[in-house]
Amino acid sequence: MGVRAEAVTGMSGSLTVAAPYVIEQVWADYTREQHALWAELVSRRMPQLRRHACREYLDGFEQIGLREDLLPDLKAVSARLSPRTGWQSTPVSGFLPADAFFEMLAARMFPTTTWLRSRESMEYTPEPDIFHDVFGHVPMHANPVFADFLQHYGRVCAGLVHDPVALERMGRVFWFTVEFGLIRQDGEIKVYGSGLISSNGECTRVLEGGCEVRDFDLDAVLETVVDTGEMQPVLYAVESFEQVYEATKAAEARLG
Ligand SMILES: [Fe+2]
Repeated sequence: MGVRAEAVTGMSGSLTVAAPYVIEQVWADYTREQHALWAELVSRRMPQLRRHACREYLDGFEQIGLREDLLPDLKAVSARLSPRTGWQSTPVSGFLPADAFFEMLAARMFPTTTWLRSRESMEYTPEPDIFHDVFGHVPMHANPVFADFLQHYGRVCAGLVHDPVALERMGRVFWFTVEFGLIRQDGEIKVYGSGLISSNGECTRVLEGGCEVRDFDLDAVLETVVDTGEMQPVLYAVESFEQVYEATKAAEARLG
């Protein structure tokens, strides 16, 4: 274990409920076929994203050193990310219970799965994998405003884990921003939500007008019951990431 790995493990020592879920990513165990599959997944998405992803995503992709040809080494990603915003991409064993998930967000550690989908599931996996988590989510964490928003979101939700009704409503904020968020930039709708970034089908459907795009409206978001197995009929576009941060604070004031 090198100095950097010790530093990362040392940080996870501050976790309590999430600590049992933190693992080591054994990067050397990825096969040549898995690296090739990652390369295929990335190269399928980049032409559309260079045109339709928000600039913060594309900048973040470069800043954290993601590569098209090799699966990411999470320690290397965190080494580039944490000097910028204090965030790390922390490997976890799989799906986390709510209290552990929010504890990690509040500590600026993004729970990151290390397994990669199979070739048969290239378009969709019900559970997040390293492609969804790192390619879809982590570049946005290099943006200071988004980084502060996401930590604050985690802190708010960590305080609501015994209030399932409030937590579900906060989950809708996450769904319509972090997972399926749109933003207006340069007079166009751009994508930043990880579910759109990492999915050809969903992103193409949205860009081709297959769902209604409305201005972000916190009241509507808090009232919308999400069916995670269905394509979204309505998505919301923000004007800035400050707006997402402010919406989280407004939601906190109403629910907390
Ligand atoms: Fe996600």
